[in-house]
Amino acid sequence: MIFKRDTKTALLRKVPLFRDLSTSQLKQIARLADEIEVRAGKRLATAGERGLELFVVIEGHARVALPRRGGAARNLGPGEFFGEMSLLDGEPRSASVEAVTDMQLLVVGRREFWQLLNAAPPLVARIMSTLSRRVRAAEALVAE
Ligand code: CMP
Repeated sequence: MIFKRDTKTALLRKVPLFRDLSTSQLKQIARLADEIEVRAGKRLATAGERGLELFVVIEGHARVALPRRGGAARNLGPGEFFGEMSLLDGEPRSASVEAVTDMQLLVVGRREFWQLLNAAPPLVARIMSTLSRRVRAAEALVAE
């Protein structure tokens, strides 16, 4: 174990994505999500492959390598998430994502993802606004 062990609910409280959720919503999320630790260099998603999980970063950083030419890599840190696109539309991963440092993450499977959104409706708005920003970034790359 690399990182300090918190109870899962205490861990969730530190994640801005889950800010404002009630204790009972956090407990439901704690039941639906697994906590994992990975070493720097671990590939967490591969562009073009099937994607079955959403990841929420607790500690550490990941790099999103956008497959389009000219697309600068994006860095995702604590409180940010990735993998939502394949869960939402069932399409292959839009980008590859790799841990650039050792990381602590929450992982949510496909079925649990939909349960999570039902359990905590404020997450829907947060995930949608992030998704919208990512779509705009992708559109901007196409337009360049
Ligand atoms: P998914 O397509 O499932 O797998 C790759 C993930 O990279 C994708 O979901 C998003 O979570 C993330 N991603 C895609 N485009 C961007 C972007 N422009 N900025 C940040 N993250 C992105």
